[in-house]
Amino acid sequence: MNKILKIGHRGAKGYVAENTLASFEKALDLKVDGIELDVHLSSDGKVMVIHDETIDKTTSKKGYVNDFTSSELNKLNIPTLEKVFDLIDKKCFVNIEIKDNKATKFVVELIQKYITEKNWNKNLFQISSFEWTILKDISKVKPKLQLGILTEYSVEEALLFAKKIKAHSINPYFKLLNVGNVKLIHENGFKIFPWTVNSSEDITFVKSLNVDGIISDFPDKI
Ligand code: G3P
Ligand code: CA
Repeated sequence: MNKILKIGHRGAKGYVAENTLASFEKALDLKVDGIELDVHLSSDGKVMVIHDETIDKTTSKKGYVNDFTSSELNKLNIPTLEKVFDLIDKKCFVNIEIKDNKATKFVVELIQKYITEKNWNKNLFQISSFEWTILKDISKVKPKLQLGILTEYSVEEALLFAKKIKAHSINPYFKLLNVGNVKLIHENGFKIFPWTVNSSEDITFVKSLNVDGIISDFPDKI
C-alpha cells in the first residue's frame, strides 16, 4: 500500500483558528505532507487566505474580503498567501483552493515567482477549485501546474474533466468514494485526495480505499 499523504485542512483547523499563520504553524508541527487553504483577493490585488467571501465569520468586522486592503485584512489575522508560502518555506506542499476567480491570475503569478525566483519545485503547489472553468484556464499555463478537481457531487464527471485538462488529482467529498470509483480514478492515472475526513471511523474507511492523501482538520489522526 502507498504512503497516504497527510494534508492539513485550512492548516490544522481542528486545533487552531482556520487559515491563520498559527494554524499553518500547527500543521507543520504535526508534520503534515501538505497544507490545504482557501483564497480570495483584497481590494489592492493581494491574494488573501480566507475561506468565506466575507470576513464576518472569522473576524470582529463585517464585509466582503474584496472591499478591504491587504493591510486591513492582515490586522484582522488574515494572512497574504505570500506570507503563508514564506512560513511554509518548502516544508510541505500547498493545496491552494481558489474560491474567487478574481484571485486566479494573482495566484498563478505568485506561484511562478516562487518557482523561478525562490527555487520552489513546482510539485510543491497544487491548485484546486470547485469552479472548473478556473482550472481549465490554469491548465493552459506553462510550466504546467498541478491541478486538483474538487467535487461535492460526482466523481464520474470530475474524472471526465480531469482527463480533459490533464489534472493531477480528483479531490472529492469523501462520501462519494467506493472501491470501484477509486480503482477507476487510479486506472486513469489520477491521484485521489478526499476531504474533509475527521472521525477515526471515516479515516479508517477512506484509508481502506487506498487513496493517495487525506485532507483533515486533524492531520495527526491520519
Ligand atoms: O479542499 C477541500 C475542502 O476544503 C473543500 O471544501 O468548503 O472546506 O473549502 P471547503
Ligand atoms: Ca477549502
